[in-house]
Amino acid sequence: MESIQATKQRFGIIGNDPTLNRAIEKAIQVAPTDISVLVTGESGVGKESIPKIIHSLSHRKHGKYIAVNCGAIPEGTIDSELFGHEKGAFTGATATRNGYFEVADGGTIFLDEVGELPLTTQVRLLRVLENGEFLKVGSSKVQKTDVRIVAATNVNMFDAIKKEKFREDLYYRLSTIEINLPALRERKEDIHLLFRKFASDFALKYKMPTIKLTEDAIPVLLKFRWSGNIRQLRNVAEQISVLEQNRTITAEVLQGYLPTGSSNLPAVIKNTKAESDFSNEREILYKVLFDMKADLNDLKKLTMELMKNGNATEVQEKNEGLIQKIYGNEEDTDYEEEEKEELKVLAISQNANPENLQNTSDKYHFAEEIEEEETLSLHDKELELIKKSLERHQGKRKLAAAELGISERTLYRKIKQFDL
Ligand SMILES: Nc1ncnc2c1ncn2[C@@H]1O[C@H](COP(=O)(O)OP(=O)(O)O)[C@@H](O)[C@H]1O
Ligand SMILES: [Mg+2]
Repeated sequence: MESIQATKQRFGIIGNDPTLNRAIEKAIQVAPTDISVLVTGESGVGKESIPKIIHSLSHRKHGKYIAVNCGAIPEGTIDSELFGHEKGAFTGATATRNGYFEVADGGTIFLDEVGELPLTTQVRLLRVLENGEFLKVGSSKVQKTDVRIVAATNVNMFDAIKKEKFREDLYYRLSTIEINLPALRERKEDIHLLFRKFASDFALKYKMPTIKLTEDAIPVLLKFRWSGNIRQLRNVAEQISVLEQNRTITAEVLQGYLPTGSSNLPAVIKNTKAESDFSNEREILYKVLFDMKADLNDLKKLTMELMKNGNATEVQEKNEGLIQKIYGNEEDTDYEEEEKEELKVLAISQNANPENLQNTSDKYHFAEEIEEEETLSLHDKELELIKKSLERHQGKRKLAAAELGISERTLYRKIKQFDL
């Protein structure tokens, strides 16, 4: 039997936590059988490598391995994707199609996010699991297939069963063996190890020296909640690797990359407007969504006016209030006050890009530019870019500004301008 260590090496799995080792050991043990396996664990813990291990160490290794993300396929097409359809089964079914269960005959199917399967599909799946039989959509001809199923879920299946979203009989059928992967916060020993591995990978990828945490930064890394688990850790390691010029990462710098909303650590940057207004990330997202919707409605109104009227100047005069609302006020009367806050934030980031800091005195003003030459669609694109960047960096302006190639101050003005 293949050893745990060799398997980890083969599949690029880092970590030495006993719970991780046990999960891999279980995968190795169960691989040669045809038993169904359910992999459980939060999002980002590394569930996807388990079915790969199982397939590669099974007698099916020369057969097909198909990974299906059940949560990503629309309810209307999932039966046809999995089991195929007959020509004419529904509008648009112009030819017979073989589903994954037919294609993967003799192989393995990984059903990721299995908790998302619609109930009707669950019935079909149960039948395949019980006797290898299935019907194409729109067909009454029973077909046979020999497929090994490994499923994964990050939702509590008992809850789903209680809410009647998941069939209990299917659950037991799928979870003959359950392999649970621990959350990253429960395998503290592995956190720094993984961080170092990712740091070295990204140094290689971006051809820069490897980032290294100072002694006092390590506990910050270990205490963080890592609700996005290894995926989130990898992300943070990548961001720091790309953005920090000083490759020695202090606790303060690291903290700047960790979202404060989901952390149980005190926030380093306190009293900034954005953070004191909201208690959690969801509220921030709601606000962004609501604001976006309001802006969209205003823009629709304006566009409609322009289409009907055709005379831009007249429309502009008539809708001064609306334009003001969408594009913001030229005069930032309370700017001084808030700029102080912003500068405090700047002062905290010790490794801020000097080029960006020089730009803090520039006189760039977005609203002026719009009036002169920007079209609505250009404006929208910029707005979207800024929003996406802020979202990607979880509201961290420093990172967003660096990504957008503008100074933090310019970004700050735009945030105000767009009321982000
Ligand atoms: N033990 C590990 N060692 C190295 N990288 C890992 C490990 N576990 C997960 N990863 C990486 O973390 C990311 C998320 O893993 P994934 O299997 O997609 O998570 P899940 O399916 O549980 O949401 C992937 O990029 C994966 O390569
Ligand atoms: Mg996944």
